[in-house]
Amino acid sequence: MSEKEFDVVVIGGGPAGYPAAIRAAQNGLSTACIDEWQNHDGSRSFGGTCLNAGCIPSKALLESSELYHRAASEFKAHGIAISDLAMDVAKMQSRKDGIVKQLTGGIAALFKANGVTGLQGHGRLLSDNRVEFTAPAGAKKTLSAKHVILASGSVPIELSMAPFDGEHIVDSWGALEFTEVPKRLGVIGAGVVGLELGSVWHRLGAKVIILEALDDLLFMVDAQIAKEAGKQFKRQGLDIRLGAKMTGAKVGDKGVSVSYDDSAGSQTLEVDKLIVCVGRRAFTTELLAEDSGVAVAERGFIQVDENCQTTAAQVWAVGDVVRGPMLAHKGTEEGTMVADLIAGKVAEVNYNVIPSVIYTAPEIAWVGKTEAEVKASGNAYKVGTFPFAANGRAKGMEQTAGFVKLITAEEDDELLGVHIIGPVAGELIAEAVLAMEFSASGEDLQRTVHAHPTLAEALHEAALAADNRALHAINR
Ligand code: FAD
Ligand code: NAI
Repeated sequence: MSEKEFDVVVIGGGPAGYPAAIRAAQNGLSTACIDEWQNHDGSRSFGGTCLNAGCIPSKALLESSELYHRAASEFKAHGIAISDLAMDVAKMQSRKDGIVKQLTGGIAALFKANGVTGLQGHGRLLSDNRVEFTAPAGAKKTLSAKHVILASGSVPIELSMAPFDGEHIVDSWGALEFTEVPKRLGVIGAGVVGLELGSVWHRLGAKVIILEALDDLLFMVDAQIAKEAGKQFKRQGLDIRLGAKMTGAKVGDKGVSVSYDDSAGSQTLEVDKLIVCVGRRAFTTELLAEDSGVAVAERGFIQVDENCQTTAAQVWAVGDVVRGPMLAHKGTEEGTMVADLIAGKVAEVNYNVIPSVIYTAPEIAWVGKTEAEVKASGNAYKVGTFPFAANGRAKGMEQTAGFVKLITAEEDDELLGVHIIGPVAGELIAEAVLAMEFSASGEDLQRTVHAHPTLAEALHEAALAADNRALHAINR
């Protein structure tokens, strides 16, 4: 067992870990990044859940399936007639695989260009900032590091009543790799994965039934937006059953038999495939030696302060393995913040201004507080909304569903939250994020010139509407 010394060793090469390694190297620190990700075909790649089995492949399939759906249902309105529209699922999947391969391969190239030592295998934190590295073939060596960054991510929660078998009952990764469209697809959990992947296969022709334990759809989303989302999903034909608690799932010859309880009593459901997507949990298996000094907090998250410092000196933890939203961009900001702090620079993450996006159609995006949260604070506030149905660009795009909702403080007009359901909401929210990052007021947005005709004008109009000054809608 030889010992090699680095300034920084990062364990985990997902969107929290690999940017941390790149930034540390950019800061002149000798850096290694250890990652054990293994694909279903046995190959190894950096990029973690996000690039290999999350954000990137899901968005590739969302795009393909949405184009297919629009060609089938919307092109007519533009005067475009297609006589033999067909979906080649194998082609769709190989396009997705190609994108994943390019982007994960890009990380290896970025490591090389920045001088990061990429090590594929398992990392385990020992005492005194030493890291045990185990190569895939089993050879071990010890690395010593001035600083260690833990970025081991998260894994899907498995339910004992519906264990994953990789074929009939699958997690989100399995649902990204179906080779044909299931006739009947069951989904447990109407969260982000359930709605995104349920939409993909529904658009391609699956009959999708989503069981959600809670009585409200999208509890974390502004209630007005969630209500509109429910309406749009229903219109599309997604069968979302709220207040439906699964009691069991049995794999048989004909697929999966799911039993659940709802307000009407005990129910059963027969499906060909079942996706279980009821959230993710922090992943720390075999990560920490007993004497590593790193404390694990409630629900398995590594305990950290606001700077992502753990309970062990010069050991940091970032991304899904620590508190906060499980989002790639949140992990990236934490990773690069830590790499800058280690280099003695000033850095912080503004946790109040982290955007969330659900990539359904229409997309749902938000930043800041929901109306319920603002109301609960007891301070007076103003709300401005503007529908895409009154926006010229949205009309031209045949994408008029949804609206922008903006909340400002009555007292000083501070922008408190922006919520969008509509076309490319995930892109539109960037303006609101920037505005909130710079502590903009509603008036600042009102006075900002927005190009015409653009979807962004809906945000401008919503800001005007908060003061009853919208130009293209009837004010209160
Ligand atoms: P991960 O990406 O999980 O990476 C951790 C890496 O560490 C993995 O490669 C793992 O193998 C490795 N590792 C763990 N332990 C060790 C060890 N001991 N030694 C060596 N290596 C180890 N987020 C968004 O922001 N936008 C989206 O659109 C989005 N879409 C998603 C879609 C799906 C289907 C899923 C499942 C998730 C999605 N997410 C999305 C969430 C996003 O993928 C995660 O928030 C993000 O990947 C977390 O990054 P991370 O680096 O903390 O962890
Ligand atoms: P989630 O937390 O978004 O949703 C899980 C849903 O399952 C909740 O609505 C919950 O009430 C429900 N649920 C829990 N137990 C249940 C049960 N026994 N029966 C029925 N319903 C049950 O989790 P999900 O969808 O698995 O996604 C995990 C995380 O991955 C997300 O929270 C998010 O952080 C990240 N992600 C982000 C995406 C994005 O940014 N666009 C896309 C996909 C995932």
